[in-house]
Amino acid sequence: MPVTIKVNGNAHSVDVDGDTPLLWVLRDVLGMTGTKFGCGMALCGACTVHVDGIAVRSCITPIDSVGSSAVTTIEAIGETPAGAKIQKAWLDREVVQCGYCQSGQIMSASALLATNPHPNDSDIDDAMSGNICRCGTYVRIREAIKLAAQSTGQGG
Ligand code: FES
Ligand code: FES
Repeated sequence: MPVTIKVNGNAHSVDVDGDTPLLWVLRDVLGMTGTKFGCGMALCGACTVHVDGIAVRSCITPIDSVGSSAVTTIEAIGETPAGAKIQKAWLDREVVQCGYCQSGQIMSASALLATNPHPNDSDIDDAMSGNICRCGTYVRIREAIKLAAQSTGQGG
């Protein structure tokens, strides 16, 4: 039975089983491949998207649990105030190495900054601990979040 989801402001009707993971719908049905598959078990963070502004692991999020919530992916995060600042800081600090984990890193960092415009080290650790980077870009990620926060006013 078709399910309607709202992704990056656009409604899509998709004909999938209700237990299909959101990640599969995004990548295989809608062709939005910016969100990555890593572990499929909520262990790496590569698949992170926002559902109503909350960072979630799309690999374990059944499509029928999304309902009418607004899904935001890496393709549109730059259109949000926090996402734009995070992406600029990522470029300024040259965070990316191989890049595979970085969509998820940016989505988690953007969700953090949108709700906490001036995160301390502990806040950053809490928000980012579930995002694994095999290339070890953690130091630059932390620097970039702090740089983005410096340019963040009230409300992120
Ligand atoms: S692919 Fe979802 S957390 Fe790893
Ligand atoms: S940049 Fe390569 S896994 Fe993070």
